[in-house]
Amino acid sequence: MEVSPWLWVIFSFSVLLQALVILADTNVQDTSGLNGIAANWEPQPSNWLGNDPCGDKWVGIICTGNRVISIRLSSLGFSGTLSGDIQSLTELQYLDLSYNNKLGGPLPATIGTLSKLQNLILVGCSFSGEIPKEIGQLSNLAFLSLNSNKFTGTIPPSLGSLSKLYWFDLADNQLTGGLPIFNGTSPGLDNLTNTKHFHFGMNQLSGTIPSQIFNSNMKLIHLLLDNNKFSGSIPSTLGLLTTLEVLRFDNNAQLTGPVPINLNNLTRLAEFHLANCNLTGPLPDLTGMNSLSFVDMSNNSFRTSDVPTWFTTLPSLTSLYLEKVGISGELPKGLFSLPAIQTLRFRRNHLNGTLNTADFSKQLQLIDLRDNNITAVTLGAGAQYKKTLMLSGNPFCNQGDSNGAICKATGESNPALQSYSTAFNCPGLQPTCSSSQALSPNCVCSVPYRGTLFFRSPGFSDLTNASYFLLLEQTLKAKFLNLSLPVDTVAIHDMLVDTNNNLQMSLEVFPSGKVQFVEQDISGIGFILSNQTYKPPPVFGPYYFLGQTYSFSSGLLQTSESKKNRIPLIVGVAAGGAAVVAALLAFTVCIIRRKSKPKQTEERSQSFVSWDMKSTSTSTAPQVRGARMFAFDELKKVTNNFSEANDIGTGGYGKVYRGTLPSGQLVAVKRSQQGSLQGNLEFRTEIELLSRVHHKNVVSLVGFCFDQGEQMLVYEYVPNGTLKESLTGKSGVRLDWKRRLRVVLGAAKGIAYLHELADPPIIHRDIKSSNVLLDERLNAKVSDFGLSKLLGEDGRGQITTQVKGTMGYLDPEYYMTQQLTDKSDVYSFGVLLLEVVTARKPLERGRYIVREVKAAVDRRKDMYGLHELLDPALGASSALAGLEQYVDLALRCVEESGVDRPSMGEAVGEIERIVKMAGAGGVAESASGSMSYTSRTPPHPYDGDSPSDYSGGGLPSMRVEPK
Ligand SMILES: *[C@@H]1O[C@H](CO)[C@@H](O)[C@H](O)[C@H]1NC(C)=O
Ligand SMILES: *[C@@H]1O[C@H](CO)[C@@H](O)[C@H](O)[C@H]1NC(C)=O
Ligand SMILES: *[C@@H]1O[C@H](CO)[C@@H](O)[C@H](O)[C@H]1NC(C)=O
Ligand SMILES: *[C@@H]1O[C@H](CO)[C@@H](O)[C@H](O)[C@H]1NC(C)=O
Repeated sequence: MEVSPWLWVIFSFSVLLQALVILADTNVQDTSGLNGIAANWEPQPSNWLGNDPCGDKWVGIICTGNRVISIRLSSLGFSGTLSGDIQSLTELQYLDLSYNNKLGGPLPATIGTLSKLQNLILVGCSFSGEIPKEIGQLSNLAFLSLNSNKFTGTIPPSLGSLSKLYWFDLADNQLTGGLPIFNGTSPGLDNLTNTKHFHFGMNQLSGTIPSQIFNSNMKLIHLLLDNNKFSGSIPSTLGLLTTLEVLRFDNNAQLTGPVPINLNNLTRLAEFHLANCNLTGPLPDLTGMNSLSFVDMSNNSFRTSDVPTWFTTLPSLTSLYLEKVGISGELPKGLFSLPAIQTLRFRRNHLNGTLNTADFSKQLQLIDLRDNNITAVTLGAGAQYKKTLMLSGNPFCNQGDSNGAICKATGESNPALQSYSTAFNCPGLQPTCSSSQALSPNCVCSVPYRGTLFFRSPGFSDLTNASYFLLLEQTLKAKFLNLSLPVDTVAIHDMLVDTNNNLQMSLEVFPSGKVQFVEQDISGIGFILSNQTYKPPPVFGPYYFLGQTYSFSSGLLQTSESKKNRIPLIVGVAAGGAAVVAALLAFTVCIIRRKSKPKQTEERSQSFVSWDMKSTSTSTAPQVRGARMFAFDELKKVTNNFSEANDIGTGGYGKVYRGTLPSGQLVAVKRSQQGSLQGNLEFRTEIELLSRVHHKNVVSLVGFCFDQGEQMLVYEYVPNGTLKESLTGKSGVRLDWKRRLRVVLGAAKGIAYLHELADPPIIHRDIKSSNVLLDERLNAKVSDFGLSKLLGEDGRGQITTQVKGTMGYLDPEYYMTQQLTDKSDVYSFGVLLLEVVTARKPLERGRYIVREVKAAVDRRKDMYGLHELLDPALGASSALAGLEQYVDLALRCVEESGVDRPSMGEAVGEIERIVKMAGAGGVAESASGSMSYTSRTPPHPYDGDSPSDYSGGGLPSMRVEPK
């Protein structure tokens, strides 16, 4: 195509104009403002020289055009004060001075004139005096982090005017007085209806908590009032905060009165802390609060009561701390087998009778029953509870027999309970680093950026469980890399729960490709943590970080490199014509550079995970807690060198091998083939999900291997192949109507568990008959979580995501809107129901099972007139009791619109009714029972859809991944 030369000239000019804007000297007012600020600091930022902060790329300064919109100077060790010159920067949107712990003095009131300011981040400095009431004028403020400073005085009521505020953190100061509320003229905190986080813990706030402060317009998810001096009682308006997920009132010694009974309204509450107050009345009844994972109500003045019934009903509970709350009676057996339970602390109560731990959850790590009245202990036959049990101070321990360890009076910690710490992955001898450097997990000496992470309310108490912390490391590192920061690895060490009830751990961030970070790197890393750009996995709850000053070995050095780049362009402007070409060239180079950047990041993240094998030597890891790490050589041995004979399946990803662990346990090892390694992300997702999912209808992960460039997952071995193979006759397992009902019931329960009980909830995204495995008793087990999605921070919502799944099972609504909800799994499950009753592939030779059944259903006829479509192997249709109800349910599951579909929980209830109708109840029989079962080597149970699965011509099965 011929381009008009005039167009070309116009284009060139527009490029030149853009270049001019970039080159133009920074707004004079902004420049003098920054110089004024720096004049009060020691040392000064290294390259803040001259008068063009934007053009010269001053450290920590981001501009739009010639105006400064962002100042990010985290962790650079400035001391001094914040000068009133800040008011000159009238276009400022972000101000982050976090972790400069010698920067202090009062905040200038003129900060209130920065009307564009959105994020004000001063965490971890030493600012003192009162919080200026003028901050209330910042009508665009969304993120206010003044925590961990030395502010005194009261919370200014004017902050109630910050109608866009989302994050409000004043914790860890010396604030006094009460919580301001609307008083007729002046606003209060009750006006903050868009704020999701009230973080006010660790102050000296006092007075009663006004009942008006909570109202139903609020959207709070985290309410942290812990470690203060509040008095009076908890207002019953608390029950209006139905979005609440984390609630802390602990360590307010004068908080008294009963806990409001409408607490049960808070059904999303996951973390609940009331310890060390002076609360009275009955022990709160937590019935129906099914999201609870961490409950601590220790040391209150509750009325003496019997063991409450809710003890055995909370499905997500990991930690129950009830020391000295006046409960008496015998602990129910079911408490120890709660599916997620990790820690039970009941010291100093009046518990009596027999302790019966015959049935216990394998997550359970610690039972503290010291100083109670327990007289007998039943550990049960078979697998016994062998983790920490503390019984000293009970009559049981006065019997003088050999109950040594459990009756020992001292020593809370079990030597086996070593909290997690990042391991070093050194192939040979661990090198010694010079004193300013440290060893990275990848075994390189460099200068790390250090600080402390504080988790204010984690949803777990098992600090030995590597799966939590590996995920923390990986997601944190991924965030740094995503934002193009040169990070090699992160490490966490020295975990402890401090006196404020925060879980703290030290964090080290190591540089990639160099021995130390430059200032720009540090300000970027600090900002990601201070601005909460990094969000940890939801189970970690709210956090804050306190960074240390980074030591640049040669001090803050001037790096004036960026100045040189300007010169040719200025010449270009002056020299006219020829320079236009130069400018264009420079511009093009710029664009090309930009484009190549994401690729770099990708390459980095390909190689970023490393798990140390030494840390998991089997001798220190007594049992599988979550997932166990295997070394490559171990799995090589277990599968007899990945021998042909042990090959039980092939898929797009590689092969599946059967193996026998030294313990005798049969496992299936899914080995990704070189070149088609699952994305690290998907691999990690699968490990993370599987390791905390425990349900008899969900396949369980034994361990994983990420070693010598291999990715392998080790699953429990499920011997009877997939549901799909049974339906097609491929596996030799034949299923009659009743068995099919039991199998779909099991699958439904597995999926319902993922949706409703897993924490966080999980959407499977790839429900299909080849992902339902059958064990030796033909119990269904849902497998293959490679595509699963966690539901986000707000829990029950939807996720916008690239559409993935398998054709034929894919929810059309999800496909069109890309909004993934749990109802997408319900759709796929509906397709599976139809597949089970017809034994037809969902999509075969252009025929779509959903359409076929919908078209054929005639509700006036016997068996809905579906005789033609039913699987002939089911035999006489007269024997298919409940078929109509089954078809009704299937069709409801495949309704066009997600809201018209039942939840998986409802589907379970309905299938249970159908099972009764068909007389198929009772326990599952063994596979070799009454059915016809031809014994032969079971085929690949972990295979997804290998091409041969859809050999019948027509549409192949495929994973849909549109661009
Ligand atoms: C409301 O509070 C403001 C600010 O604290 C105060 O100036 C005013 O007098 C109060 N008004 C009433 C009616 O109490
Ligand atoms: C603050 O909330 C009260 C009711 O709680 C309301 O009447 C008042 O108008 C609100 N003020 C502002 C500034 O939003
Ligand atoms: C419970 O929450 C609902 C909103 O979901 C609210 O309408 C109701 O008033 C609350 N009940 C109590 C007793 O606070
Ligand atoms: C606890 O509350 C009771 C009254 O309910 C009071 O007598 C007692 O002094 C309080 N204890 C503390 C430590 O404040």
